[in-house]
Amino acid sequence: MTMERSAIAFEVNGAAVSVSVPPVRRLSQVLRDELRLTGTKVGCDAGDCGACTVLVDGSPVCACLVPAASVTGASVTTVEGLANGRLSALQASFLEHGAAQCGICTPGLLVAATALLERSPTPSEAETQDALGGVLCRCTGYRKIVAAVMHASRHVNGVDLRLPEAGHAVGASPIRLDGVPKVTGGEKFGGDSFPADALSVLVVRSPHYHAGFSFGDLDAWTKAHPGIADVFTAADIAGKNCFGVIGPFADQPALAEGFVRLRGEAVALVAGEREAILDLDLTDFPVTWEELPHLLQPREAKADGAALIHSQRPANLLTSGYVERGDPEGALAGAAVTATGIIETSFVEHAYIEPEAGYAYMDGDTLVVVACTQAPYMDRDDTAKVLGLAVEKVRIVPTATGGGFGSKLDVSLQPLIGLVAMKTGRPAALAYTRNESMMSTTKRHPAEMKATIGADAEGRVSGMIFAGDFNTGAYASWGPTVANRVPVHASGPYATPNYRATGYAIHTNGPIAGAFRGFGVPQATIMQETLYDELADKLGMDRLDFRLKNCLRDGCETVTGQQLETGVGIGECLEQLQPHWARALAEAEAFNATNTASRRGVGIASCWYGCGNTSLPNPSTIKVGISPSGEVVLHQGAVDIGQGSNTVIAQICADALGLPLDKFRLKSADTAITPDAGKTSASRQTFVTGKAAEKAGRALREKILRFANVSGEATIALEGSSLSIREGDAARRIDLAALKPDADGLVFVAKETYDPPTLPLDAKGQGKPYAVYGYGAQIAELEVDLKLGTVKLLKITAAHDVGKAINPVLVEGQIEGGIAQGIGMALMEEYIPGRTENLHDYLIPTIGDVPPVEHILVEVPDPEGPFGAKGLGEHVLIPTAPAILNAIRHATGVLVTKVPATPSRILAAIREKEARR
Ligand code: FES
Ligand code: FES
Repeated sequence: MTMERSAIAFEVNGAAVSVSVPPVRRLSQVLRDELRLTGTKVGCDAGDCGACTVLVDGSPVCACLVPAASVTGASVTTVEGLANGRLSALQASFLEHGAAQCGICTPGLLVAATALLERSPTPSEAETQDALGGVLCRCTGYRKIVAAVMHASRHVNGVDLRLPEAGHAVGASPIRLDGVPKVTGGEKFGGDSFPADALSVLVVRSPHYHAGFSFGDLDAWTKAHPGIADVFTAADIAGKNCFGVIGPFADQPALAEGFVRLRGEAVALVAGEREAILDLDLTDFPVTWEELPHLLQPREAKADGAALIHSQRPANLLTSGYVERGDPEGALAGAAVTATGIIETSFVEHAYIEPEAGYAYMDGDTLVVVACTQAPYMDRDDTAKVLGLAVEKVRIVPTATGGGFGSKLDVSLQPLIGLVAMKTGRPAALAYTRNESMMSTTKRHPAEMKATIGADAEGRVSGMIFAGDFNTGAYASWGPTVANRVPVHASGPYATPNYRATGYAIHTNGPIAGAFRGFGVPQATIMQETLYDELADKLGMDRLDFRLKNCLRDGCETVTGQQLETGVGIGECLEQLQPHWARALAEAEAFNATNTASRRGVGIASCWYGCGNTSLPNPSTIKVGISPSGEVVLHQGAVDIGQGSNTVIAQICADALGLPLDKFRLKSADTAITPDAGKTSASRQTFVTGKAAEKAGRALREKILRFANVSGEATIALEGSSLSIREGDAARRIDLAALKPDADGLVFVAKETYDPPTLPLDAKGQGKPYAVYGYGAQIAELEVDLKLGTVKLLKITAAHDVGKAINPVLVEGQIEGGIAQGIGMALMEEYIPGRTENLHDYLIPTIGDVPPVEHILVEVPDPEGPFGAKGLGEHVLIPTAPAILNAIRHATGVLVTKVPATPSRILAAIREKEARR
């Protein structure tokens, strides 16, 4: 049924506009679809995320909740209206502070903060938090946003966009190279550039965890709905209807065939004109469901006689990982003290503010998919497989990606819109709703873990046994990676001579659990670090000293028998925290001496994390060249999902090449143009792709010097379309315009690949799984209200060994963002299918939930990393939750063993302890 339209006239960014739309159409849709002002983002369509914030007559509102008719005659300001010929002071301040990472939340924050600054030009922290409390950011941890708003008035003269000179890029913090569009609304995310003639696609999904289904008369239904072009089902899939990120485990159909294994699984696609799809009610869609029994808990799924979710996987076991070293039972039997515990964690939703979105079209016989992603080449391969195309006939063009954190490593809508584009010959566009994004995409694995750790009387850890069941949901996704990575890391960054760890990935009919910042290591670290506190208490040792005594050092062997020659920075991280620890403990003691209603606690936890794939090839390739006009063209295929790879990889390449960053032009990821830089995951881009960029920069420099017939000591400089080379007093000039360019338009070019040197793990998990590890430790300070069970975080102090901080501001941003996600995991995030499939019921940290963060950047160089750099992205989240749980235990005397530690769980634990007295 098509809705009646009305002419609605109003003002946008100072210009009069008139649109003809149904009066109840959301203002956000009108701005984006009718006026093409796509700077206003849509993250939920429900008033929960604030991404759509605009000003109506000067007041911030959620445009997704405002009917178009209500702005008749009003003045609307969007992010596109904030810059008046030049960036506003606030926009400049956001750039200067590194307050925009992926940038999807940035327009909403900028608009809301503009209204605040109108009435309070130098707001306090509390005023800022109050004004921005309705806008969610999943990347930054908010601290830089708060600083950018509070100090906006200092940037009335704009921002210094100058870039470092040649040889000084590494270690500098220039404005991120892709920063300006993030603050002007110009950045194009997955849903921001749909072709006007695209068919809209709607996905029909299962409302059941496990069900058989059959379709009625789809043709008749299609004909009965004007504007609907066609319906597609699994029967239309020409290729292998089975995808998955890890080849041998691939098991997920793009469209289910006859039965579904999880709530939210796709069964059919409806393609139609945009207006028809917008107004479509699916209640009469001809599908009949037969609900089947389902299994949601690993303990049910692995029980004898449980129905198999995949017939080829006995006991619903997807796979397991195993590491064994020495004699763990003997060590525990002989230990002076032991600690044993059980920890359970929950599904955690990635909750990026940008739901999956993109469009596909045919370019001749090549399918082009333009969508948000973390892994363009993997998308290409899976999409080609499902649609029965050769990989060269699929081109993936990543848009800006509004957060990923692991979930956008898996294909989601790519084969679906690809199928519609192939079948209809028209572009096909799809933006997931918040609800379908949360229902159908991957989550962090819930874990049920048990461990025992023992130490001798001097406080040296002697042995550990760990076992964990990880609920991997209905399909494999990254379950094998989690099962294998956990046993390698469950010791923490501590010498553990006798050790056994097993990780099981178990299928259920729950959400698909996949990659999420840390691949299971954050869960395992909660287990280990909480037991470390108990051991220290039993030994009468200071908790930090206990960790310092046991931490890995240069020359130590890990639990996989890998000897770490140099670059082990966990000791230095812990040492740097010592004065903060002493201060925090003293303050807590003083507070607790005079307070009874609340108790203050201090907790500490460490992390280590191997960068890149576990014992598997993991190459990245970077191409860099010089154009006849004197530009350095960097083919940078590492997708920047906000972490800053566009800037960091260029910084590394610039210094390796010896030319300044301002000569660089980036060609961002596109499978038809940029070589494969691998996926953005596992904290690998700075290390692996950075190393490839370093090699490519050096190789290009060598080529130039060889061409000029000078030694490696010479300096090079670009002057217009000339390259000048100096060696001592001698100078040479190369006229670039006179050289013949290659097919890419480059006159000098180098392409280099780097693959980290790892070794396979044997049957006992012994080997060299990673070439580089990163390390860190964090202190959490908090207060617990003993009556309410609520936790007020006071401060997080984070020391992270990054080897070399290529860009310190970006490093700080990663630390703060990881900590915010760790806070969510520790205190509030619990995804429950059917109950928390939106951002209203599923809580993530808001601007008021992240306390001040003090970062300590430790630089213990790794000889393998580019300029000594190590990865960082996953590491920063790992210690936060255990540090918080240990602080709660320090405050209250109770350890909460089911995460998140919600107020009710904290109170229940306190009451249980009191009842035992
Ligand atoms: Fe409007 Fe989320 S899109 S509040
Ligand atoms: Fe805020 Fe990504 S920068 S959501």
